[in-house]
Amino acid sequence: MTKILVTGGAGYIGSHTIIDLIDVGYEVVSVDNFINSNAQTYERIHQVSNSEFQTYDIDLCVHEDLERAFAENDFAAVIHFAALKSVGDSVNDPLQYYQNNLVGLINLLQLQKKYKVKNLIFSSSCSVYGNAEELPVTEHTPLKEAESPYARTKQICEEIIFDFLKTDPDFRAIVLRYFNPAGAHSSNLIGESPHNIANNLVPIITETAIGKRNKLAVFGSDYPTRDGTCIRDFIHIMDLAAAHTKSVDFLLKEKPSDQGIVINLGSGTGSTVLEVIHSFEKVSGQKLNYEMADRRPGDVIAVYADYRKAKKLLGWTPARNLDEIMHSAWQWELKRSH
Ligand SMILES: NC(=O)c1ccc[n+]([C@@H]2O[C@H](COP(=O)([O-])OP(=O)(O)OC[C@H]3O[C@@H](n4cnc5c(N)ncnc54)[C@H](O)[C@@H]3O)[C@@H](O)[C@H]2O)c1
Repeated sequence: MTKILVTGGAGYIGSHTIIDLIDVGYEVVSVDNFINSNAQTYERIHQVSNSEFQTYDIDLCVHEDLERAFAENDFAAVIHFAALKSVGDSVNDPLQYYQNNLVGLINLLQLQKKYKVKNLIFSSSCSVYGNAEELPVTEHTPLKEAESPYARTKQICEEIIFDFLKTDPDFRAIVLRYFNPAGAHSSNLIGESPHNIANNLVPIITETAIGKRNKLAVFGSDYPTRDGTCIRDFIHIMDLAAAHTKSVDFLLKEKPSDQGIVINLGSGTGSTVLEVIHSFEKVSGQKLNYEMADRRPGDVIAVYADYRKAKKLLGWTPARNLDEIMHSAWQWELKRSH
């Protein structure tokens, strides 16, 4: 069986992707140090996928530890999720973010070179576009100044990968720029369970509804949008996971001539904050306690992806809509809170 190294496999996107990879017949090895996850997630993945896989409790920043995973396995490709991802934390402690996200990637690339693992899929983010001026955002939309150290680590990591590609004509990388992943697995056994307090809209909505928070503040109601609130692009976590499997297929089977391929992953349409709230209220049958508040500095008015490149190259399209995202997120919140 073709073996894939997944870094950060106990995390939110990694865990859903492992299930998808196993489902289509790949063998998976996961490396994670649980800095933002826990080992229970592996047990749940085993339960859902009905299969075991090898795991390493390793910090990617410790080169000799990470080397063990390479020495003991023959990987066809790497999917690199492991990174710190909180925008706010990155502002407070930028060095931790540069250390973890850059050193982890550099160690990985050094070992991929040494062990001749020629394929990489990298988790990037729409935050690399900064305050994009054109909509929808395509892969050609110019990158703007990063809005946070976190976003800057993604920009720098992309550059590191593109520079590295020039040193080995056989190396291939797909850089996936995610928009806003949300929702949970249909099994209701895995979902997003970060160590720190959530700072994305969907978990904030479900945490408010369950009573972990008093009230949701909607920042800005006078933006030039359909209902005055900001527009964001939400992508169901299972659709996002499937895009990774398709990326692996593409690299291993199609063997593209382009060495570095950037692909946006979003739903293609934006939803306003109020539309997301109303979708939640519809699927949960609950009224949400929210209030309109002033605009928040730094918020972009609207951002959503053009995903035609993902469709063309990977044959991927998002299959699940906003209601399905909100329904799965709510079921997961009910499960993890009781
Ligand atoms: N979730 C989002 O909204 C989003 C959006 C865009 C991009 N991304 C990127 O996607 C990737 C995965 O995100 P996620 O939402 O699954 O995050 P997550 O925090 O749930 O998962 C990341 C995993 O990596 C592990 N990890 C971090 N640093 C490590 C290290 N040095 N060594 C070993 N393990 C380490 C964590 O313990 C965690 O399990 C990240 O690179 C993130 O920046 C996420």
